[in-house]
Amino acid sequence: MKGILVVGASRGVGFELVKNLLKSGEKVVALSRNMQSLNKLREKYPDRLYNISFDLSEFEKFELVLSELDRIDFIPSTVYYNAAYLKNKNFLEQDKEDVYHTFRINYFSYFFLTQFLLKKYTNPIHFVAISSMGGVQGSMKFGGLSAYSASKAALNNMIESLAAEFSSTKYRFNALALGAVNTEMLQEAFPNYKAPIDALGIADFIAWFGLNGHRYFNGKILPVSSSTP
Ligand SMILES: NC(=O)c1ccc[n+]([C@@H]2O[C@H](COP(=O)([O-])OP(=O)(O)OC[C@H]3O[C@@H](n4cnc5c(N)ncnc54)[C@H](OP(=O)(O)O)[C@@H]3O)[C@@H](O)[C@H]2O)c1
Repeated sequence: MKGILVVGASRGVGFELVKNLLKSGEKVVALSRNMQSLNKLREKYPDRLYNISFDLSEFEKFELVLSELDRIDFIPSTVYYNAAYLKNKNFLEQDKEDVYHTFRINYFSYFFLTQFLLKKYTNPIHFVAISSMGGVQGSMKFGGLSAYSASKAALNNMIESLAAEFSSTKYRFNALALGAVNTEMLQEAFPNYKAPIDALGIADFIAWFGLNGHRYFNGKILPVSSSTP
């Protein structure tokens, strides 16, 4: 059966996205480390929501995830790369692990997951990276976010590169570069800042884009922001 894969789905934007897709009648596979909120949601949608507990940093185990998708006979038509790691830390205080972990989650995991998915599935897939305005060249930058913003810039570049390399296929690759959205991650990045939009509000657009955007865009990094940050 065809459906949507949401990577990073237990809270914030990802959780609201899963709820939105389920309300629209989609089948969803949700991948995250914490299962509490997702398991509760599954009680409401036992036939259309499948939860997989997985830590994205363990990319050598992606095959396990894919075998789980086989087990439930699931073929992704849209894949959202939503999970991300952000540590707000001054440049000079960051140690190797801070930087490595940021890139491990925000870039390398998606690099290798995409390889796995492209080798396995030949059906059309719309890959949607949930990126950040911080990763857009020329956008305003902020102290403490150098590793995070650079990792999102790398992710954006990967999306553009994949769209070029697979332009003759039915795969489509786009990124939504979000501005501030009220979530736990925003509080880490900008403590006490209140954004003009919350996860519920933006999920609507992200859901629509994942299901329809491939008809209009490929290889695009689209700013989705009405504020700075
Ligand atoms: N909020 C903003 O202002 C803002 C602005 C620009 C861009 N964005 C982007 O929007 C996306 C969603 O952000 P958010 O604010 O909703 O973040 P969030 O509240 O921190 O949620 C992040 C989600 O990713 C999952 N996740 C994190 N690390 C993971 C790992 N190692 N393995 C599996 N899942 C993992 C978390 O689930 P578990 O902890 O259960 O694993 C959680 O469901 C991110 O890509 C972020 O960079 C957000």
